[in-house]
Amino acid sequence: MDICVVGAGYVGLTTSAVLAELGHRVTCVDQDREKIELLNQGGIPIYEKGLKSLVETNRKSRKLFFSDQVIDSLSQHQVIMIAVGTPSNEDGSTNLTYVKNVVELIAKSIGGHKTIITKSTVPPGTNEWMIRSLVDQGVDRQLFDVASNPEFLKEGTAVDDSLHPHRIVIGAENKRAAKRVKSLFRGIHAPVIRTSLTGAELIKYASNAFLAAKISFVNEIARICDVYGADIKDVQKGIAADPRINPFFLNAGLGYGGSCFPKDLSALIHSAKLKAIDPILLEAVIRVNETQIDVYLNKLMQRIPGLKNKQITVWGLTFKPDTDDLRASQSIKLIQRLLQTGCSVHTYDPVTDLKNDQVIHHSKLYESVEHSDALIIATEWHQFLEADWERVKKNMNGDLLLDCRNILDPDRAKKYGFYYVGVGRS
Ligand code: UDX
Repeated sequence: MDICVVGAGYVGLTTSAVLAELGHRVTCVDQDREKIELLNQGGIPIYEKGLKSLVETNRKSRKLFFSDQVIDSLSQHQVIMIAVGTPSNEDGSTNLTYVKNVVELIAKSIGGHKTIITKSTVPPGTNEWMIRSLVDQGVDRQLFDVASNPEFLKEGTAVDDSLHPHRIVIGAENKRAAKRVKSLFRGIHAPVIRTSLTGAELIKYASNAFLAAKISFVNEIARICDVYGADIKDVQKGIAADPRINPFFLNAGLGYGGSCFPKDLSALIHSAKLKAIDPILLEAVIRVNETQIDVYLNKLMQRIPGLKNKQITVWGLTFKPDTDDLRASQSIKLIQRLLQTGCSVHTYDPVTDLKNDQVIHHSKLYESVEHSDALIIATEWHQFLEADWERVKKNMNGDLLLDCRNILDPDRAKKYGFYYVGVGRS
């Protein structure tokens, strides 16, 4: 099938490469000329395992193309997949500017029949709005079908998640559109969940909200473990043995971040409130996440009461390992709070750095802890687990190790002479 994917961000680019890999002829378009130029020269704008080679292979076999000629491509293709960004507005609602722009361009350029598939995460009712908007702009109702096909890919494993999904969700206004979407993923073995347009939109939000709720739940239990002297890892193991709970997304830590969970929770809360639903649980999930940094700053201050002029090293800047994405990173929020205390902040990250003059960023792991009074592990990069901890301790001035992702064994850390503080364990 010939497909036009609009948007060459995380989702658009990965989906384009995967659809090409599945045998389709894909043109990925973006108005960002520089990005398209880079892609056409064999470069890749993001750090994502396996994506560069997948793009390269399919580009060379002429199944994947990149173009900044958005309107031309829209008019030439019968199948259009919208994968543009849907950032948050100040009030938590979704900024649909990019989606609206694409809908306008489709309305302007439509000649023959189009199947319009929404991949972008959009609030409940958006796909229905899209139909009304196209008709209002004078497009013949017979000329298009709309379908919703949300993505569930995680940064760091985006390619693998797309090739081996747990489910394919298809929200469609009719059988013809549903069939078309299903045929895109021929070759992928996953259950297909067929629902309405709004049903698909809500599956996406409910999935992310549920995962975020699991994280906030375990983080709250970790706070209780702390005050009663229990180990969250044992509690986690004990509850996860029940298949109704399962072990995934139960790692206590500094809280969730990234481009999806914070934004999607705010959007869902906004959508609920628009219809006079009080989203009690969803708001609590956010509250636990927002106060998680306070908990660990308090622990730092308990051990080092006057932080002013002290040297604190933070390992890990990204919102999670195996990505270079700093969006809504809890680590960055923690660093901002540390700077407010007047301490000197040193950082290290395996793939990225911080453009902040107030922070001293190091490109060498062991150098980053030299003379530090405390080390905070903010992201669980594998490299940290494998560090020579004896060397780390020797380089430091102080002994506080704040393991905000519970990557180390407390007893082992103590053997090296650290004063170890984990999340719900010490
Ligand atoms: C998420 C969803 O998982 C994915 O399905 C969706 O399509 C996009 O949003 P992503 O943002 O890439 O993916 O990251 P994810 O792996 O879900 O992690 C989100 C945050 O939760 C990270 O900050 C991570 O550190 C944190 N997390 C995750 C925990 O704190 N504990 C856990 O047990 C798991």
